[in-house]
Amino acid sequence: MNNTIFITGASSGIGREVSKNFLQNGWNVVATARRLNLLKSIKLNKKEIIIKGGKIIPLKLDVTNKNILNKKITEYIKKNGVPDIIFLNAGTNFTNDKTISSSENTRKLFEVNFFGVLNCVDIFLPYLKRKKKQTQLIIMSSVAGYRGLPYSGAYCSSKAALINYAESIVNQSALHNIKVRVVNPGFIKTPLTDKNEFNMPLIITSDKAGKILYKKFLYSTKFEINLPNIFCIFMKFLRILPYSIYFKLTKLTLKKL
Ligand SMILES: NC(=O)c1ccc[n+]([C@@H]2O[C@H](COP(=O)([O-])OP(=O)(O)OC[C@H]3O[C@@H](n4cnc5c(N)ncnc54)[C@H](OP(=O)(O)O)[C@@H]3O)[C@@H](O)[C@H]2O)c1
Repeated sequence: MNNTIFITGASSGIGREVSKNFLQNGWNVVATARRLNLLKSIKLNKKEIIIKGGKIIPLKLDVTNKNILNKKITEYIKKNGVPDIIFLNAGTNFTNDKTISSSENTRKLFEVNFFGVLNCVDIFLPYLKRKKKQTQLIIMSSVAGYRGLPYSGAYCSSKAALINYAESIVNQSALHNIKVRVVNPGFIKTPLTDKNEFNMPLIITSDKAGKILYKKFLYSTKFEINLPNIFCIFMKFLRILPYSIYFKLTKLTLKKL
């Protein structure tokens, strides 16, 4: 029987490319997002289907709607069993908002980026605890969650919350044979970053990101997955700078953004 990966935010960008890579390698992919038409367009050609045998299961899901999420995920699990990998990737950002984020906007972003992940974890958790085989629970965060960046109060804090949450639950989850991991990318070219008007250093294509993530999900066991590596090392370096230096640097970038 083919292994299965469940992915949120699979209709575009990183989630779509990860879906394609798993599908091309014979996995069943439960591809979820709000735009069902885009999920249905993730396809293999006939030859690939015969050789690999994986299939795509598109599910229209909004991660902020817990009732529907619960209904559809439970239905899926009862019929097909628990997936081997759960990749909670759905996320969003506001376009070039130069104001200090209001509580309303920040709450809206948290509903998708942070609580959207927790909604899924809540629903999967009882099934994962009963499953004998290990499951990977992979949370999409960002290097933007390492430290507060200019003009990104809502986005950075939602991603920082996810990193902290993942760090907090990793050992408890391991007791139930659930392997919690976090993905912290730098810049990847997707519809999300296409909205940015500033220069994005060392940006890579979503196609490349999909290939890297496929390999890291299957062949690395590290808690944190970074891509592209060099940019992420630079961001890790910023994380250890004292405030006195860090704020001087971010003040400089403020003028460029
Ligand atoms: N691109 C980067 O440089 C970068 C860097 C670090 C982290 N990330 C993170 O990577 C993840 C994917 O982003 P991306 O760059 O690939 O952007 P993207 O192409 O805009 O993809 C975002 C995905 O999330 C889905 N989504 C948004 N709101 C949703 C909701 N309420 N319910 C269900 N699905 C929802 C979208 O699907 P629908 O609109 O069809 O629902 C879409 O499939 C995000 O969490 C983002 O923060 C991206």
